[in-house]
Amino acid sequence: MARKKLIAGNWKMNGLTADGTALAKGIAAEVKALGKPQCEFLVCPPFTLLAAVKKALRGARVALGAQDCHFDAKGAHTGDVSPLMLTDLGCAYVILGHSERRADHGESNELVCKKAEAAHQAGLKTVICIGETLEQRDAGQTIDVCSKQILGSVPETATAADTVIAYEPVWAIGTGKTPTAQDVEDVHAAVRKVLAKKLGRANANKMRILYGGSVKPSNAKEFLSLPDVDGALIGGASLKVEDFMAIAKNSGC
Ligand code: PGA
Repeated sequence: MARKKLIAGNWKMNGLTADGTALAKGIAAEVKALGKPQCEFLVCPPFTLLAAVKKALRGARVALGAQDCHFDAKGAHTGDVSPLMLTDLGCAYVILGHSERRADHGESNELVCKKAEAAHQAGLKTVICIGETLEQRDAGQTIDVCSKQILGSVPETATAADTVIAYEPVWAIGTGKTPTAQDVEDVHAAVRKVLAKKLGRANANKMRILYGGSVKPSNAKEFLSLPDVDGALIGGASLKVEDFMAIAKNSGC
């Protein structure tokens, strides 16, 4: 089953207008130079830069995404941003349930699922994040934790067309530490099995499962050549044009 690889940058809370625009322009130029890339590209800047980045990406095959959204379309939710506001700005994707949101904002599987349903309804594709903590890993609970997160966070109605999963071990995010390739493949294969049970085999076989957590140019090939790894969600290394593009190129894009 051929799944087009997704190379996604999660800029997190980084970037002001000048450097965010420059980064987006740099990526746009490099992706244009690839001609017809073998992969799909996505950048997810902070809310404040979405409009400027959209403009900077004009004409390039790079999708725009946000890093979170509310489940309501509008209303009394001070500080929140709705899925419709994101599509209005030209977003095609939204990241949901990132471990930093689960930890910093107490987001539960139920809430992530509710947000995902609303995002899909608004026409957004979702990148739903899962992953175990170091404590859970040391206790041998990795597959169990990830399975529960999939069952709780992914809507029943999700399809391969509107949903991407990102497996990001919490302890590997921003630390320079990574699991072994075998560990990553084992988790991805297990996640695909759970997806098959929940959404049916056809959807599970087509759904992309990204690896995230300290992905860099030097380890991209190792992870992205694994059979069940369909791309990467990249934090730190997505903030430099050369690193982001080197990851893509080393992954066969
Ligand atoms: P990192 O972050 O690449 O800096 O480890 C990945 C992520 O949190 O999405």
